[in-house]
Amino acid sequence: MAQTKNTAKIAIIGAGSVGATIAYACLIRGVGKQIALFDVNRAKVDAEVLDLNHGLQFVPMATVEGSDDVGVCADADIVVITAGAKQKQGQTRMDLASANADICRKLVPQILHVAPDAVFLLVTNPVDVITYVTVKLTGLPHSRVLGSGTVLDSSRFRYLIAERCRVAVQNVHAYIAGEHGDTELPLWGSASIGSVPLLEWTGAGGSGPLTAEIRDGIAREVVESAYRIIEGKGATNYAVALAGSRIIEAILKDEGRVLPVSSLLDDFYGISDVCLSVPAIVGASGVGERLPVPLSDEELVGLRSSADAVRSVARQFGF
Ligand SMILES: NC(=O)c1ccc[n+]([C@@H]2O[C@H](COP(=O)([O-])OP(=O)(O)OC[C@H]3O[C@@H](n4cnc5c(N)ncnc54)[C@H](O)[C@@H]3O)[C@@H](O)[C@H]2O)c1
Repeated sequence: MAQTKNTAKIAIIGAGSVGATIAYACLIRGVGKQIALFDVNRAKVDAEVLDLNHGLQFVPMATVEGSDDVGVCADADIVVITAGAKQKQGQTRMDLASANADICRKLVPQILHVAPDAVFLLVTNPVDVITYVTVKLTGLPHSRVLGSGTVLDSSRFRYLIAERCRVAVQNVHAYIAGEHGDTELPLWGSASIGSVPLLEWTGAGGSGPLTAEIRDGIAREVVESAYRIIEGKGATNYAVALAGSRIIEAILKDEGRVLPVSSLLDDFYGISDVCLSVPAIVGASGVGERLPVPLSDEELVGLRSSADAVRSVARQFGF
């Protein structure tokens, strides 16, 4: 991988709302030196590439190219998959599984052929199922296939906690684990602000303690926020793109950053053979150790039922 030479190539599959905004976020953050966009829609990919290229003067040195030929992804260090159907109003992420697993079946072998050394980052929904499908299709070391998982949900969670407790979002440490979807669960027991456990938060700045009712409201809002955004503007793109570019940066700069990415679990609290998000160390080789986060009995039950939900959808499509 070329990360130490700062010549890293990021191939983004799908130049839709999410893919194009990930490219934009990477450019602005100075993550990666070469960005390649691949999309079956030639007019769309050409237009996005042109628009991004017109902004190059204002960002750290980089190049952007695009094509409807998968060859544009050749020798990428990271392949980010965003291609596929997105949720329409009223649809859950799991409703996309069939169409998007089919796209993956066709696409992933072609990409692997041209970018055999890449780390694969899945964003297409349902991301846990699609990550599992990609693990199985590629046969790559499990560390090299990860999903954006609940990195986005955790940032939504932290934002809501920060707003309620009147502190900077950067000082909130809290994770959403499990499925990136309706069965995800907030890990309240290990959450903290500064070094104050969240469950002991007494309400600095007049914010008041986080009662069970307030906590339930926050958790519900995290789950429902994508539905609200889709209702208003048809897609979610900014926060997922920032989350995606953060994961890419952690890989390219070998940061060892703790992020709740989705990866194949192997006896994580007895959970195996399913891709789910738990806090894990992310660096040059992709996803490393999963952290043994302390879980309450209730959290463990929640994580197991999230695992069952994701596994049963993957099984329906022969994975
Ligand atoms: N994981 C997350 O946190 C997260 C957040 C938001 C969206 N998503 C998901 O990301 C995906 C993309 O969402 P979007 O809003 O960008 O959708 P979009 O419709 O704007 O873009 C999808 C793009 O994929 C392209 N495409 C379709 N099939 C392709 C193929 N075989 N090869 C190459 N390109 C192909 C389409 O031409 C289109 O440009 C959806 O599945 C959505 O649910 C995930």
